[in-house]
Amino acid sequence: MQNSNVSLASKLPGIEQSIFSIMTALAQKHDAINLAQGFPDFNCRPDLIAAFTKYMQEGKNQYAPMPGILPLREKIARKTQKLYGANYDPEKEITITAGATQAIYTIISTIIKEKDEVIIFEPAYDSYIPSILINKGAPKYVQLEPPFYKINWDQVKKLVTSKTRMIILNTPHNPSGTVFTKEDMTQLEKIVTNRDIIILSDEVYEHIVFDGIKHESICRYPELAKRSFIVSSFGKTYHTTGWKLGYVLAPRDLTEEFRRVYSYAMFSALTPAQYAYADILDDEEHYLGLGEFYQKKRDIFLESIEGSKFIPIHCHGAYFQCLDYSAISKEGDRKLAEKLTKDIGVASIPTSVFYHDKLDYKVLRFCFAKSEETLRKAGEKLKSL
Ligand SMILES: Cc1ncc(COP(=O)(O)O)c(C=O)c1O
Repeated sequence: MQNSNVSLASKLPGIEQSIFSIMTALAQKHDAINLAQGFPDFNCRPDLIAAFTKYMQEGKNQYAPMPGILPLREKIARKTQKLYGANYDPEKEITITAGATQAIYTIISTIIKEKDEVIIFEPAYDSYIPSILINKGAPKYVQLEPPFYKINWDQVKKLVTSKTRMIILNTPHNPSGTVFTKEDMTQLEKIVTNRDIIILSDEVYEHIVFDGIKHESICRYPELAKRSFIVSSFGKTYHTTGWKLGYVLAPRDLTEEFRRVYSYAMFSALTPAQYAYADILDDEEHYLGLGEFYQKKRDIFLESIEGSKFIPIHCHGAYFQCLDYSAISKEGDRKLAEKLTKDIGVASIPTSVFYHDKLDYKVLRFCFAKSEETLRKAGEKLKSL
């Protein structure tokens, strides 16, 4: 096919191709173990596949209702009340979406107008900035630094202006594995109270928390919850990232506005998957055991690199282990990540890509949502450095 040759002024100038596709392609080319992209290399529960298949065979193959099937929304409401003590009306305050990324994009498109300022904490999941920019918003950055990635709330306070429209928080945090604390929520509450600021709380790793730490969902805090969109993802909780299904919790007025945009951006999400998740959502053991399940994997990965010169960064949640390599190499993190993929056979993500100005702290991110065998093999290879 020939190029169209129509004039194209990019709406995202300067935004590069996603590093995840770049590193995954490089891993494939060099037959390397892919600890770069964040997805499990093991299968999901067989009963979930059986339920999905059953519902397809039963004919649940047409559009779901716009906000999602009611039984699933009712179960989410019960789960949220039981886990976090927050009441969301399944009819008016819970919406099923085509994954968390699509939910995030839609929330930002719903709220952000030209020149609205959005505070984000970097390193940041890579969809936030493009979603803000495409809506002509202005991202304002707060940098978190290794090894603790703690939020400097004084810095946040100084960034708040009359134009601040949104703050995006992500806990447990990708890529650092940090879990924000009750004190963080108290500080956030002080900043937003009596201001016209909306919070987008990305909680896709809500069940993947380690070392006895509690996930501080925004919805535990009524003053925060009343101005928040909370985003979760079934893909992360049920090892089904390819099904792209998630949901949004938000008060009635915010949900109403969100659905206005969602109904034209997407309208509804994968029907048989909604029925399948509704069948197993009451199984508490699954999600309450997820922290222990992934903590074991983190520990296997850490054990398998013991004796190497990598310095592990504190990781209490999500499924990423960051490693400081400054005792091994002075090279930039992107170069080293490429080199490790080609020469050692392990792909990772350079954390500089999660900072808009590519801050390089000599830290690589490794995804440990992999089988024990994969993690041990990768560890052996990394130890050989
Ligand atoms: C912090 C964060 N938010 C959102 C997502 C996207 O979730 P989904 O696959 O449901 O779109 C990811 C996936 O890696 C993530 O790490």
